[in-house]
Amino acid sequence: MRILITGASGRVGGALATALQGQVDMRLTGREPGTVALDFLNPETFALALAGCDAVFLMRPPQIASGRAFRPFLDAAHAAGVRRMIVLSVKGAERNIILPHHGVEREVMARGFDWTMLRPADFMQNLETVHRSGLSARSEISVPAGDGRSAFIDVADVAAVAAKVLLEPGHAKRGYTLTGPRALSFQEVAEILSEVLGRPIRYRPRGVLRFIRDRQAEGVPLGMALVMTALYTVQRTGGAAGVTDDAFRILGRTPNDFRSYAQRNRHVWAQI
Ligand SMILES: NC(=O)c1ccc[n+]([C@@H]2O[C@H](COP(=O)([O-])OP(=O)(O)OC[C@H]3O[C@@H](n4cnc5c(N)ncnc54)[C@H](OP(=O)(O)O)[C@@H]3O)[C@@H](O)[C@H]2O)c1
Repeated sequence: MRILITGASGRVGGALATALQGQVDMRLTGREPGTVALDFLNPETFALALAGCDAVFLMRPPQIASGRAFRPFLDAAHAAGVRRMIVLSVKGAERNIILPHHGVEREVMARGFDWTMLRPADFMQNLETVHRSGLSARSEISVPAGDGRSAFIDVADVAAVAAKVLLEPGHAKRGYTLTGPRALSFQEVAEILSEVLGRPIRYRPRGVLRFIRDRQAEGVPLGMALVMTALYTVQRTGGAAGVTDDAFRILGRTPNDFRSYAQRNRHVWAQI
């Protein structure tokens, strides 16, 4: 079996490539040497990327805000003989039609692939990326999530689940909601980070409009800022707090908790 890993230069795709090393024939897409160029918005890049692949790990780049944009790629994948499609979606996408992942899932399901939907909660690693500038400049986390909780998951666990789902039988036509072992508010996240880093980190809840304005000032495209706002609104209103045992059942162990993730990665914030 050969799998095409899209977004291999990104967080989940990169971690999946590491998890699958030596176990399966992989083709990685990205801009690094040894990878194949793939642009979901440029059909000229599809044939080379898909040639000889039986399976695809499909991620939606945050910049692409519509499921329809994936139609040409999915048609090309089907025509090229891909049967297995493992989709990196997001928690709640099966119900929330506002999320672009909802459209991506529907487009995949409409084409007769043996799909598996991975629907992770918020990544713990967002603290290194989305929240990086706030943590480095002001030692604060500032998002419109109120005191809602989120069942944060470690990207390493999302990748470990994706690897199992690819290598083991029995996961076709299944959707898995992947969470960490416990839901936390950003106040609790700030408290754990303060303890682990040995310096005060505070959480300042933001209003929605102010949050969108701040993201635009940082150059984040409006569509992307709106998707982020929709996800924080789900958290603020309690919809992100549910913990599932899907990751536990697939991995055969408890997924990593936020404190162990923060301790393992404390060097990241020590440098910022
Ligand atoms: N962050 C969260 O908490 C969270 C939670 C659940 C689900 N998700 C979902 O996970 C996905 C993001 O995964 P990630 O964090 O692993 O990604 P990421 O680290 O943001 O990386 C994005 C990847 O997309 C590639 N890319 C960008 N534009 C592309 C295009 N036009 N065609 C093909 N590839 C393109 C990039 O390649 P280059 O390096 O070449 O640009 C890169 O590899 C999103 O759909 C997000 O909604 C996120």
